[in-house]
Amino acid sequence: MESKEITISRGGLEGIYIAETTLCKIDGANGRLWYRGYPPIEVLAENSNYEEVSYLLLFGKLPNRKELSAFRERLKAERDVPPVVFDIVEEMSGRAHPMDVLRTCISSLSIYDEDPEDKSQQANIRRAIKLIAKTASIVAYMGRYRQGKDYVPPDSSLDHSANFLYMLTGKKPDEMAAKLIDLMFILHAEHGSNASTFSTLVTGSTLADVYAAVTAGGAATLKGPLHGGGADEAALRMMYSIGDPDNTETYIEEALEGGKRRIMGFGHRVYKAYDPRAKIVRKYLELYQERNPSEEVSRLLQIALRAEKLMLEKLSKTKGIWPNIDFFAGPLYRAIDVPAELFTPIFAASRMVGWCAHLFEYWQNNRLFRPLDNYVGEVDKKYVPSTRGSDPLAHTPGTDMGGWVWMHGLRCPGGTATIVVFTLRRYIYFQ
Ligand code: CMC
Repeated sequence: MESKEITISRGGLEGIYIAETTLCKIDGANGRLWYRGYPPIEVLAENSNYEEVSYLLLFGKLPNRKELSAFRERLKAERDVPPVVFDIVEEMSGRAHPMDVLRTCISSLSIYDEDPEDKSQQANIRRAIKLIAKTASIVAYMGRYRQGKDYVPPDSSLDHSANFLYMLTGKKPDEMAAKLIDLMFILHAEHGSNASTFSTLVTGSTLADVYAAVTAGGAATLKGPLHGGGADEAALRMMYSIGDPDNTETYIEEALEGGKRRIMGFGHRVYKAYDPRAKIVRKYLELYQERNPSEEVSRLLQIALRAEKLMLEKLSKTKGIWPNIDFFAGPLYRAIDVPAELFTPIFAASRMVGWCAHLFEYWQNNRLFRPLDNYVGEVDKKYVPSTRGSDPLAHTPGTDMGGWVWMHGLRCPGGTATIVVFTLRRYIYFQ
């Protein structure tokens, strides 16, 4: 049945609700964010930790002490990097983008599933825990390998994010560095129906399994620079190109001239106010710099703050362009020695829980995603075979061409009669 009224989104499904959720609320007009309705993100960032947030997202409630401790143990038990991942990282790292390496590694984890046929919620939670724990370790090893360093086995005395930093740098992080990396994991854990989560749901809605959904959906989609893929890295590179804080204004003015370029780390489809996550990252970056002064980070911070001021003057009121989470993330990662090429893989490792939680929620009332596109071309255009007269064998048997059909290279009278004859012939032949 054809619907008379056609609703077409402005593009990019802007303003379209694709599902109901209790996972995350974003108030884009006022720059506010809640996970599972708990106190706003600022409170979780200050007081919570990644394991607690992951539990909250997966199970819908905050864990008590015993539940949190059991959840932590389950994550720790899954931290090892499986053998095939070493091969993939070693084989691909020299040639492939880190997100391609990570996507392939995540995909490979399906071969270690204890019981692929078990589709129960319990089995899916088990898979989510495996994916959350192992993705962080894989990213750490990717970083080690790229620097020509050996694998550092996980340390079970450390929490999830601190262990990640340890497996990456080989040094146990101090309290402040551990807080900063955990903060980034918390802030990236979930963010509504962003492109990678939506894409995870689209794949999952076909009833493909968790591994397929987070690989094709999450890890593949996050690679693009308009989403997570390298906006923080690009913002950091811009700060390095600016070099001297006094060059900031000229650089930004020139970049924006005639709408020439976008400044990475600014703008958001949903936030038309300051992204609350960006404010948190800025606050902790300033705090870290105060306590652990570094010349490099100080310069980056000055550039970032001057760029932010100018961008706010120029674009916040006119176009609703504000800093997003990626703008201050680069200098913060640099402050704790995380290399730029790992920024997006870390985003993926943190968001793994959000992808899984959304998928499990969607599966409770699964319906295949199958939108329409509004065909605006012509129909019944004249068909002129490109091979007519030269290569009849190229024609598909049964293709109708003005009353004739091609069968086994012979042009025969078309229509039902011929098809009946050939079907009968086949039937007799196979008796
Ligand atoms: N710098 C300068 N101008 C911008 C920027 C920017 N970063 N972002 C948007 N604009 C302008 C854009 O040129 C357009 O101007 P006009 O109306 O004159 O053509 C207007 O703002 C609206 O842009 P849009 O592309 O329609 O907005 P959108 O909702 O499709 O874009 C966005 C959202 C994130 C893709 C975009 O702001 C952008 O490309 N930002 C830079 C990339 C970036 O930082 N990505 C990380 C996003 S946050 C991480 C996450 O949660 O995924």
